[in-house]
Amino acid sequence: SETDKGIYPYYMLKEVDEQAIVARTLSQYYFDDEGQVQNIAPEIIEAMQAADRIYIVAAGTSYHAGLVGQRYFEQWTQTPTEVHISSEFAYEQPLLSKKPFFIFLSQSGETADSREVLDNITKQGYPTLTIANVMNSTLTREADFALPLLAGPEIAVASTKAYTAQIIVTAILAAAVGHTPFDLKNELAKVAVEMQVIIDQKDTFKSIAESALKHRRSAFYIGRGLDAAVAVEAALKLKEISYVQTEGFAAGELKHGTISLIEEGTPIFALLTQAKTAGLVRGEIAQVAARGANTVIIAAKTLAKKDDSFVLPGVNELLMPLLTVIPAQLIAYYATLDRGLDVDRPRNLAKSVTVQ
Ligand code: G6P
Repeated sequence: SETDKGIYPYYMLKEVDEQAIVARTLSQYYFDDEGQVQNIAPEIIEAMQAADRIYIVAAGTSYHAGLVGQRYFEQWTQTPTEVHISSEFAYEQPLLSKKPFFIFLSQSGETADSREVLDNITKQGYPTLTIANVMNSTLTREADFALPLLAGPEIAVASTKAYTAQIIVTAILAAAVGHTPFDLKNELAKVAVEMQVIIDQKDTFKSIAESALKHRRSAFYIGRGLDAAVAVEAALKLKEISYVQTEGFAAGELKHGTISLIEEGTPIFALLTQAKTAGLVRGEIAQVAARGANTVIIAAKTLAKKDDSFVLPGVNELLMPLLTVIPAQLIAYYATLDRGLDVDRPRNLAKSVTVQ
C-alpha cells in the first residue's frame, strides 16, 4: 500500500525517491495538453488578481517552501509577497495592505500555529487559500479555497516531498495568476527528469555525508537569493535528524559574524545556482576555505568548476530549488544513518504539531 515502506529501510528515503513522480503527477493534474493551467478554480485566480499583496503563512519546512514560492508570486504576478512564520504572525500581526490575500502552506493541514492565524484572518474577513497535502484537513476545510499537493502520504518526520510539491504548486499557481516568461509545463517536465538523475546518485551523497560530517558537531549551509532560501531548509533537514547543529543563511552575512566560527575542518555546504551572485559566493567560499573550512560546493552545471563536489543539471534558475534540495535531503539522510540514529523518528519531534 501507499503507506508501506516496501523495500526501503526508512520512509524518508522512499519519500525522497518519490519526488520525481510527484513532480510529474502535479504537472499532469494542473496542466492540460496545451500547457494551460487547469484545476485551479477561477474564483481563486480572480481573488488573487484583485489582491495588492500576498501573505504566505506557514511553519517549519512549509515556511521554507514559502520563501521560494514568494519569488514566483513577485516575479510572475508582480504582487508584493510576504512570508511569515505562523507562530509569530498569530501574536504579532503585521500591518496589512488594503487588499491582502492569504495562503496557508502545510503538509498536514493541522498545524495549530497556522490554524490560529487562519482563525484570526477569517474573523477579519480576508480571502484565504490553503495549499496542503492532506485534503479535508482542518486548514483546507476552514479556508475559503484549497489546493492539493498530491504528494501522497508523507510519514517520515523530516519533510521532503511535501516541500518540493509546495514549490511546484506555488509556481503553477503564480503562473495561473500572472504569467511566466517560459513554458512552465515543459520546464517542470525537465525538472522531474533531472530530479531522478540526482536521486540516482545516492552513493555520491553517502560519501559526501560520511567524509564531511563524521564526528562533526556543527555545519553550515550558505547561498544567496534562492540558494539562501534552500540553505535554511537544507540546514533544518540536517540538524533535525542527525543532531549536527547546522545553520543555513545568506552567504553575504558570513562576514558580519558567523565567519568567526570557522575552524579547521568545519563543514560548509555552499549552494551555487544563481548566476547573478555566483561570483560573490565563490569569493565567500574562498574566504572560509582560507580559514580551514571543509567546503562542499553544490553548483549548477553552468556555474560549476572542476573541483566542485556535485554538479546539478541545468534547469530554469527559478526552479533550481527543486533540484538543490535533493542533495541536502540525501546528505542529511546518510549522515544520520552513519550515526546509527532512527532517520524517521528523531527525538522530541512530531510529524504534525497540533498544539501552539
Ligand atoms: C512539524 C514537522 C515539520 C513540518 C512542520 C509544519 O514541525 O515536524 O516537518 O514542516 O510541522 O507542518 P505542516 O504540516 O503545517 O507543513
